[in-house]
Amino acid sequence: MKKLTDQITFRNGSTITNRILQSPMLTNSGLDEMVTQDTIDYYTAHSQSAGVVVVEYTSVSPNGSPSRSWARDREQLAIYDDKFVPGLTQVAQGLKKDGNKALLQLVHSGREANYRAELGGRVEVPSQMDFSWLKYPVYELKEDEVWQIIKDFGTATKRAIDCGFDGVEIHGANHYLIQEFFSAFSNHRTDYFGGSLEKRMNFPIEVSREIFRVVKEYAPKDFIVGYRISPEEIHGENVGYTWHESQQLVAKLTELFDFDYVHLSTLDYKALPETKDSDKTIAELMGEAIKAPTLEVVTGGITTYEQMLECLEHADIVGLGRMTLMDAKIGYKIEHGLQDQIKTFFTEEGLKEGKVTIGTIETLAGIVKMLGLDTPGSDVLLKLAGENLDSSVIHG
Ligand SMILES: Cc1cc2nc3c(=O)[nH]c(=O)nc-3n(C[C@H](O)[C@H](O)[C@H](O)COP(=O)(O)O)c2cc1C
Repeated sequence: MKKLTDQITFRNGSTITNRILQSPMLTNSGLDEMVTQDTIDYYTAHSQSAGVVVVEYTSVSPNGSPSRSWARDREQLAIYDDKFVPGLTQVAQGLKKDGNKALLQLVHSGREANYRAELGGRVEVPSQMDFSWLKYPVYELKEDEVWQIIKDFGTATKRAIDCGFDGVEIHGANHYLIQEFFSAFSNHRTDYFGGSLEKRMNFPIEVSREIFRVVKEYAPKDFIVGYRISPEEIHGENVGYTWHESQQLVAKLTELFDFDYVHLSTLDYKALPETKDSDKTIAELMGEAIKAPTLEVVTGGITTYEQMLECLEHADIVGLGRMTLMDAKIGYKIEHGLQDQIKTFFTEEGLKEGKVTIGTIETLAGIVKMLGLDTPGSDVLLKLAGENLDSSVIHG
């Protein structure tokens, strides 16, 4: 019988002290894409929030960022240059000071690099097409440019190692470049990176191959590597892929590479497939495809302790996003039998204790407003974010 307080040793040898992972959440605290004191304060305040914390999506290529949301003059973080190393080193140190593991999520934001567009830069996609909801032009990557981005993921991994992170998570979810390549909706290429399902898998596979090459050469043996995926991409008639194809991708990735975990990005940990062709949950279906000893992390919609226990029935590790913003000490409380004291809704006090940035609060408030997402204590978020939310973009 699995317990949240179990110690878990990943296949590569790294041990975490509970079955909780803090999911990556952007802080929008970067200034010229560099870590600021706000970034450091937030992550340091989360040094006891989970066995393993994944730092927000950080861009590996100049044109892979930044994304910016809403009113503040702050944006996404990056790691495409050595100048980003000192700041990110402080983030890793802050997170690790009480024994947590700290991972960095690596991304190329693809068509979502909205602020790059505002700055007059190039927004890169697998295939030229009309994205009716985007207010800026996009650029179809040439094959040699795709290979350069793959290399960028490797160079970024080397920098993450130098910063002292315990691992990296590949951001293959939430409609960023890796997902855009996997999606039949956004990938119409006819070269090595597009066409059949096999070829649409080539970008995620080559990114993984490059990262594992760098890890084998430069990282400690127990360096953690995870892969995050959105298990379905279905928007009305626009079907990028179903869970059947995701199963094939994670099976392939975990057969080819020594991934420590695969992390599902969902809004509901117990959701059934949108295709309605199975009685099993998405978490169960994906779990069947992931090859042991790679573990499964499931994130989405957990706001109580009981739901964490329920999620654990079909996951090896429970991923928490918003709950770690409600209560920055959630991992510590669970480990010490203090679950009755967990804050399960947003309060000004809780946000202050966790040094949650205004960038995160604005993003959260925007999600609540736009998606009508049921978030306990959302009135506090809306109040703190103020009225000037431009709900046209969601990032992370
Ligand atoms: C403010 C905010 C920022 C986010 N940023 C990221 C991100 O950088 N990378 C990512 O993969 N997911 C991001 N997400 C998604 C979360 O990791 C998580 O999957 C989502 O919040 C659902 O989990 P929850 O119900 O526990 O909050 C973000 C979510 C929120 C609310």
